[in-house]
Order: sequence, then structure tokens, then C-alpha cells
Amino acid sequence: MKGLILAGGSGTRLYPTTQVITKQLLPIYDKPLIMYPLSVLMIAGIREILLIVTKRDIDRFKQLLENGSFLGMKIDYIIQQEPNGLAEAFILGKDFIKNSTSCLILGDNIFYGQGFREILKECSSLDYRGGAVTFAYPVKDPKRFGVVEFDKNYNVLSIEEKPTKPKSNFALTGLYFYDNNVCNIAKNIKPSNRGELEITDINLEYLKNKQLKTKVLGRGFTWLDAGTPESMLEASNFVSIIENKQNYKIACLEEIAYYNGWIDEKALIKRIDKINKSEYGQYLASIIEDKNIHYKKKLK
Ligand code: DAU
Repeated sequence: MKGLILAGGSGTRLYPTTQVITKQLLPIYDKPLIMYPLSVLMIAGIREILLIVTKRDIDRFKQLLENGSFLGMKIDYIIQQEPNGLAEAFILGKDFIKNSTSCLILGDNIFYGQGFREILKECSSLDYRGGAVTFAYPVKDPKRFGVVEFDKNYNVLSIEEKPTKPKSNFALTGLYFYDNNVCNIAKNIKPSNRGELEITDINLEYLKNKQLKTKVLGRGFTWLDAGTPESMLEASNFVSIIENKQNYKIACLEEIAYYNGWIDEKALIKRIDKINKSEYGQYLASIIEDKNIHYKKKLK
């Protein structure tokens, strides 16, 4: 399975903050926003990623994530010239996806909750089943999102993009798993009234073909869409509370790569040497210390 992250967009809703830099590179507490959705793909076991970015920001993304090899991954970049809509990911990403299945995540989405790894693992083995899997989350303000309506057995009845009269309070999150047909579907989609190629239209096509599954992420799970100043602050507060209470980091990419077995201790130490002055770097060092108390001495 291949992973795509949409990290383009105009960011006008966050001006003047995003006038010179995209929001996905701005911090959510102790790390850039982009690291949160990237961590989700890594937890799903996806090692090949296409990052869809603007021309203005591509070099900065490359400075941060390079070609992914420090994480034992392969990260490619492609420029989206205009924010033509989320479904364009599968037009731009066609040559990258080839005949694989794919997972798309939006660059401003943060997921956190117990059992998520198992859910992701199950979805990334979609290769054997086909169709699409999306995720719903109950929200107070469904009008801001794609909204999904269920029957009593949680089968999807309808999906509407930013409806004025939402049929439920379940928002569709920005995480989508698709079989290889998604590129064909995206190719045939027409722009919506607001001029965008809507991801909702892709999902409606799967629904029409009875190939759409939507899993509900319920109580005990946190989903944040960091798309406004308030939600960015809320996300930072959330991450700081969790990280400082539990002393576990959310979206620590090197930690995930290490536990996935994608990098060895030598590669992790090399990375720590580069960033050990930061609290994030010190946290990475503590992972090694857990396994090898001698490393602590070496750091001093
Ligand atoms: O966050 C979940 C919601 O995301 C879903 O419920 C909606 O169905 C879906 O349409 C989307 O709505 P948003 O209004 O939140 O999408 P937004 O325009 O904010 O774009 C989401 C991310 O994708 C953002 O990080 C910018 C990036 N983007 C957006 C567009 C339109 C691109 O990279 N390219 C684009 O063309």
C-alpha cells in the first residue's frame, strides 16, 4: 500500500500566519503539523509516501523530511499548482500509485487513540478485499465537514460535503483507504459548485457501487482538524497535555520507525546526534536509554 499526504492548499483561512509558510510546517506544540499525519501512515505500516505540496513550500518540506531515508522510508514530492480539490491527489498521484492500493491523509489532520494501530493495520491489508474505507467522528459543528448519515446498523446511507442542513453529526475525517480503482474514479470527477474536485464525490462513487465502509471513531478517540487558529491552539494544548502527563510523544517519527524495525539503533543515534539539544531529541535518547543505559553516558 502507498501513502499520500495532501499538504498544499492556499491556507487563506489562516492569513496572515500562512502568508509566507504553509500551515503544515507550523508547530503543533513541539513539532510541525505535517509530522502528525505522516505518523499515521507510518503506524499503518506504509513506507512509500507521496507528499503533495505547493511550489512555494516544496523546498522547506524537503529540508524537514528529506527523501525519508533517515526514517527508513521513501518520500517523494509533487507540486499541486492550484488548490483544485482533494480528489486531485489521485490524478497527481497516479504514476506513484501504479497498481497499488492507497491511503490518503490530509496534512492538517491529527488522530490519537488506543487501538488505532490495529484499525490501521486492518485497513492497510485492504489489498485483499477491495473497496474503500473511511472514518466518521461525532462533532458539534458538522456543517464544516463532509457529513455521513448511517442506518441503525451503521451502513452508510448518504454523504454530503459541507451541508447547510446536516443529516447527522458524524463528520468524515481526512483519512481514506482505497483500492486501485480510485485513480480511474478521480479522473472522471467534475468540479463541484465551489470549483473543487471533491473527495466526497469519490466516496459517493464507492457508495453507489456498494464498496464503501465507514468506521466510527467514538468516545476515547481524538480527531482534530487543525484548520483554524482556534483548532491549532486546541491541538497544541491537547498534545502538550498528553505528552507531559504520560511522557510519551505523539507522532515521534523516529520512534515509530525504530519500533517498526525500519531503522536500527545506529541510525537512531545518528539522528539523535543531530537534534539532541531539543527536548524532542532528548526524548529520542531516552528510547535508547531504555534499551541501553550506556548511551546516556555517551550523550554527556
Ligand atoms: O478534515 C476533514 C474534512 O476535510 C472532510 O470532512 C471534508 O469532507 C473534506 O472535504 C475536507 O474538508 P476541509 O474543508 O477541511 O478541506 P480543506 O480545504 O481545509 O483541505 C484539507 C487539507 O488539504 C489542507 O491541509 C489543505 C490541503 N489541500 C486542500 C485542497 C483543497 C490541498 O493540499 N490541496 C487542495 O486542493
